[in-house]
Amino acid sequence: MASIFLLGFVLSIIFIILTLIISQKDQRKLPPGKVGWPIIGETLAFVSSPEKFIHDRMTKYSSEIFKTSIAGGKMAVLCGPLGNKFLFSNETNKSITTWWPTSITKHMIFPYEASSPSSIVEDHSFFKLEGMQHYVSIMDSMAKEHLEARWAPHQEVKVHPLSKEFTFALACRVFMNYDNPEQVRELAEPFFDVAKGILSVPLNIPGTPFNGAVKGGAIIKEKLQQIIKNRREELQKKMKMKKGDRDLLSRLLASYYCDENYNLSKEYDIANKIIGYLMASFYTTSTTITFVLDNLALHPEVYDNVYEEQLEISKSKGAGELLTWADIQKMKYTWNVVCESMRLTPPSQGAFKEVLTDITYAGFTIPKGWKVSWSVHSTYKNPKYFNDPEKFDPSRFEGNGPPPFTFVPFGGGPNMCAGKEYARIEILAFIHNVVTRFKLKKANPNEKIVYTPEPIPVEGLRICLQPHEK
Ligand code: HEM
Repeated sequence: MASIFLLGFVLSIIFIILTLIISQKDQRKLPPGKVGWPIIGETLAFVSSPEKFIHDRMTKYSSEIFKTSIAGGKMAVLCGPLGNKFLFSNETNKSITTWWPTSITKHMIFPYEASSPSSIVEDHSFFKLEGMQHYVSIMDSMAKEHLEARWAPHQEVKVHPLSKEFTFALACRVFMNYDNPEQVRELAEPFFDVAKGILSVPLNIPGTPFNGAVKGGAIIKEKLQQIIKNRREELQKKMKMKKGDRDLLSRLLASYYCDENYNLSKEYDIANKIIGYLMASFYTTSTTITFVLDNLALHPEVYDNVYEEQLEISKSKGAGELLTWADIQKMKYTWNVVCESMRLTPPSQGAFKEVLTDITYAGFTIPKGWKVSWSVHSTYKNPKYFNDPEKFDPSRFEGNGPPPFTFVPFGGGPNMCAGKEYARIEILAFIHNVVTRFKLKKANPNEKIVYTPEPIPVEGLRICLQPHEK
């Protein structure tokens, strides 16, 4: 009898404690919104139309914050300039950290040793401005070679695949001194497959984009390991590196190699960093180049202004003289055009992070373990910040430009895009070479754009080239 009484007493205590915990949990006010289907959440709606996805939910739930589920996990999306500011300034390793979709961490990179995948890219010193200035002439000469070989022989080109080819080859050259065209092409293919499948439905059956990405990831890992092994052996033979040899790969190997505990996992780490940088660089910049050229073909008056600025720079140079850092600084109008193009067709949609401790924003709790994200679409088409937002108007970037935290193509805070300067030089050097050589006309003025979630012209952006009269 006593034991039954005791059991009843213990059960009542457990019941009271559980009720207290649950009621306490209920007091946390979670952001409004829906998390969609199990596993896939709302990924499909986001990927196929990221701008509409953000607008619809900001209208329906809140212009400050809403919840969803993208790429496997509950997620809070913070909106508007204040949401952007909050995320950029709170991103310390204590409360918010970088998060990569599991499709990447599971299939496309080597298992990482460190507790957080943010170690894939951590020390970005190679991309510091001072270092990047030396690459202006290389970027210019590679752009010239690419246009001569792949554009000049044709009357019509597909800009998107060609610019992907260019930006990938350039990254291979700058990061790893890898420049054999055949080998670069072989490495490019699996990267393009991975790019297509990064945010796809995780269905690993033949023919799906996800399966293509998984297969691509395996090939990339194998090739990268071989490239690193070859370079390590080369460096061992040479023993000492000359300063000029110091591409990204040599620098990474040198810094790890000094570590007496050098082992395979260190080599994996180097491979992951190179994979991360290659992935981050070629797709964003080729998409930007594609839509800048699209806009130049659509707006002849803007083209004329860009042409004038670039011609002035060309005329100031001797025959065969390559672009310099000072020339890039003169391309102010052209950069405003690039910014306006990135506003209307953003090459990157924002970023995903993970919450390490419960955080509160706009009166709502974002629980530990949730993902958190900002999106370019929460401000770019808002008439409050961009007057007549659908209009292509580079002059909005003159003077002080848009209000703070409303135009954030490269993010902000400690995890702001490491390749911003690299991207700026690469895009401007490429546009310089295109406009000083060709006039542009769209072959299909009605060519549609699809989203993956990055924008892609369905026919690759077909452009008719008309060389300038000499
Ligand atoms: C127009 C071209 C580019 C755009 C629009 C772009 C955009 C972005 C954005 C939005 C982020 C996320 C920032 C955040 O987490 O809040 C990012 C991160 C990053 N980007 Fe870029 N990017 C571009 C080009 C590049 C290039 C060329 C490279 C490499 C050379 C690069 C390397 C990186 C790296 C390493 C990160 C991660 C930074 C970190 O977490 O510490 N990006 N980029």
